[in-house]
Amino acid sequence: MIKKETIDRIVETALIEEVVGDFVQLKKRGTSMIGLCPFHNEKSPSFNVSPSKGIYKCFGCGKGGDSISFVMEHEKYAYPEALKYLAQKYNIEIEESEITPEYQAQVDRRESLYIITNYAAKFFETTMWGSPSGQTIGLSYFRERGFRDDIIKKFELGYSPDEWTALQDKAIADGYRPEFLEETGLSVKNDSGKVYDRFRGRVMFPIHNFTGRIIGFGGRTLKTDKNVPKYVNSPQSDIYNKSNVLYGLFQAKKAIRDVDNCYLVEGYADVLSVHQAGVENVVAASGTSLTPEHVRIMARVTKNVTILFDGDAAGIKASLRGLDMILEEGLNAKVVLFPEGHDPDSYIQKLGSAAFKTHIELHQQDFIFFKTQILLKEATNDPIKKAAVIRDIIESIAKIPDAIKASVFVRECSALLNVEERILIAELNNIKLTKAKKVYNATRSPQPDSPLPDSPQLDSPLPDSPLPDSPLPAAIEPDSPQPEARSPITDEYQERELIRVLISYGDQLVNWDGMTDTYIGPYIITNLSDISFNDKLCERIITYYHDELDKGIMPTEKTLIQHPDKELKDLVISLISSPYMLSANWYDMHHINVPDEKVNLKATIMGAIFHLKKKKIATMIATKQKQLQADNSNEQELQLMKEYLQLKEVEKYISNYLGSVIIK
Ligand code: CTP
Ligand code: MN
Repeated sequence: MIKKETIDRIVETALIEEVVGDFVQLKKRGTSMIGLCPFHNEKSPSFNVSPSKGIYKCFGCGKGGDSISFVMEHEKYAYPEALKYLAQKYNIEIEESEITPEYQAQVDRRESLYIITNYAAKFFETTMWGSPSGQTIGLSYFRERGFRDDIIKKFELGYSPDEWTALQDKAIADGYRPEFLEETGLSVKNDSGKVYDRFRGRVMFPIHNFTGRIIGFGGRTLKTDKNVPKYVNSPQSDIYNKSNVLYGLFQAKKAIRDVDNCYLVEGYADVLSVHQAGVENVVAASGTSLTPEHVRIMARVTKNVTILFDGDAAGIKASLRGLDMILEEGLNAKVVLFPEGHDPDSYIQKLGSAAFKTHIELHQQDFIFFKTQILLKEATNDPIKKAAVIRDIIESIAKIPDAIKASVFVRECSALLNVEERILIAELNNIKLTKAKKVYNATRSPQPDSPLPDSPQLDSPLPDSPLPDSPLPAAIEPDSPQPEARSPITDEYQERELIRVLISYGDQLVNWDGMTDTYIGPYIITNLSDISFNDKLCERIITYYHDELDKGIMPTEKTLIQHPDKELKDLVISLISSPYMLSANWYDMHHINVPDEKVNLKATIMGAIFHLKKKKIATMIATKQKQLQADNSNEQELQLMKEYLQLKEVEKYISNYLGSVIIK
């Protein structure tokens, strides 16, 4: 392992403009440098390098990162390889760390689990291809089911001998330790202490992690006896966590990226058949139901999921609720239903690849419509059931983070459900309001023990009336009215601005009251404790920041740029290289020169916090207004009015603070 100090030295020494300069011709432009992006084809340069920040960012294709990620991306190096490349370029001696014995032991133990699992996979494979029983039982089973040899090999399928201790005996004879066989679940111990192989007389499906290492198995019985479990799976272990592994993802990931879509099926056999049919972008959540982690893993490769359902009505209804999380994670979900009694595997084996592809083309449907239809079928002529269906569908739609997409679904579902759009929107707003209440409460009562000033004590006095518009271009003015479609649901601008300020200045000290220095990051985090972010990524950054603080670590711009989560890192980089700013008024008021928000950090930070809070309140007020327009009883209306007025008061408080008057 390369020592942390070495890595730090490499990061400090490797100048981004030099590292990139070896591959891209850069020209100076202001404080940054610009060139033609090496990652996509372009004629005019949109590839930016910021020497002061040590990062690059392409505004054409969106790629961005630091010196290390540039080398990884450009040369297709793994992390340690990239470090070695840079060390060589800068003549830095690589020091490998002597890690603590405990840590080493842990690494060794995990490594041993990988090694034994890989050993077992090879054992099952050679048994299948090389032993008489393997060939006549295992291999012929796969072939009879219609799997081609190239697919059998590609997925490293195998066969476990129908004996009690075949694997275990061989492994121990080859010098492997019994404890690792048990820890990976390849061996099991019964109550009387007898240890034997978990997988016996089964065809074996090895499960790979994202990087291609085998971490567990599914073993299918060849018996038709109903008392024998059809599948036996590896138990959870230090290397296998079934809630975050998708079967087939390793073999599928390239195709998923290429076609920007992922098919989700139910079983191992389905993955194989669909892959064999030439549709290689297919995975299964094997041996468990789909989890949010599964969805997040998929989301890293594509935002489009198509679920292929077996034609079994009971099963579908049961799984519908769980699938909402796909929407929640911001993915586009489609569904294809197979005819009664068929799963994708049996369909392909019976009707062929071409028929399969046609079936998908003809029958794919948006998840929301699919769900609506399924639920409606059971509710015909039953108004009470129908009301429940409407609520259920709207709840699903409420989970879609993209407001525009959600409103399209509302419109189309209104036709399907035969309910006025207005009613659906009211219901949707209701659900959103419940969520927004949280925000509302947070904004209404500034926390008493936080240093949030009652009357702001910033460096310059707050004016009583708004200042005239500054000559800044409107494009960077987040307070300028936004088009109807975006407003009021999206808070993206303010959320991102706040995150940008947090990233850029979180680890700096500011003196709030003339007496004590306080770190900006923890201050911001405390002040946001009750605000929920619409943007999932922003939310994740806040959570990460919060967790690190809990651990006593202060995140910095640098650590965030180097965050292992690609999505997070990309957002961080695009934020710190973006021209987002607070409103011009705000800067004017505090005599801050726009390019130099650092001059009055207090104002910058308070500005970011309060602009976000103002936006959240505006959203809630708009929702209230919509509700007030709907048909309400007098009592309801009164209640709504009260809430509305309370919100307006909060808005006034914030607006005064921000020094801009809201006319509406
Ligand atoms: N499964 C499991 N344990 C079982 C049954 C099923 O872990 N006792 C999991 C397996 O991952 C299986 C998936 O659920 O692949 C789907 O089950 P099923 O449709 O019964 O299996 P298929 O993969 O379709 O198997 P086959 O076509 O060989 O019957
Ligand atoms: Mn099947």
